[in-house]
Amino acid sequence: KYEKIWLTTGISSLVLFLAILIITALHNGHTPAASGREYINPDRVDEIEPFNKPGLHKVSGKDYDYELVFVASAFSYQPAKVEIPKGSKVKIIATSKDTLHGFSLPGTNVNMMLEPGHISQYEKKFDEKREYLILCNEYCGIGHADMKSMIKVV
Ligand code: CUA
Repeated sequence: KYEKIWLTTGISSLVLFLAILIITALHNGHTPAASGREYINPDRVDEIEPFNKPGLHKVSGKDYDYELVFVASAFSYQPAKVEIPKGSKVKIIATSKDTLHGFSLPGTNVNMMLEPGHISQYEKKFDEKREYLILCNEYCGIGHADMKSMIKVV
């Protein structure tokens, strides 16, 4: 008699435990941001926030001042040039619409790969009034060497 009760209790706990595991797994699967990996459809970049509005956007309630959104495609970046107020902390958010591109600011720590379907991010404070060239440092085809943009800190 007691054995049966123990067995039932044991199996019930096991089932409950498995159910929690499965629910947790499904939940995480549906919130990609939670795992730090965000995927977007590269063919629909122009429709998906924030990439539907490339450029500098003031934000509030975050630990940075601006979001700077870049969309790369062979062989240019959107925007082609951007001005940032001196002293701003900026979160750069970028992706590619077609193939693998680079995103580097020579002389800084900013050096990202932009993969189609993947969002790359980097936070940087711009304290110096100067111009930064943005270069593609992944070979992406015939126009690779001309693929650039610019950040001007004003
Ligand atoms: Cu884009 Cu090289």
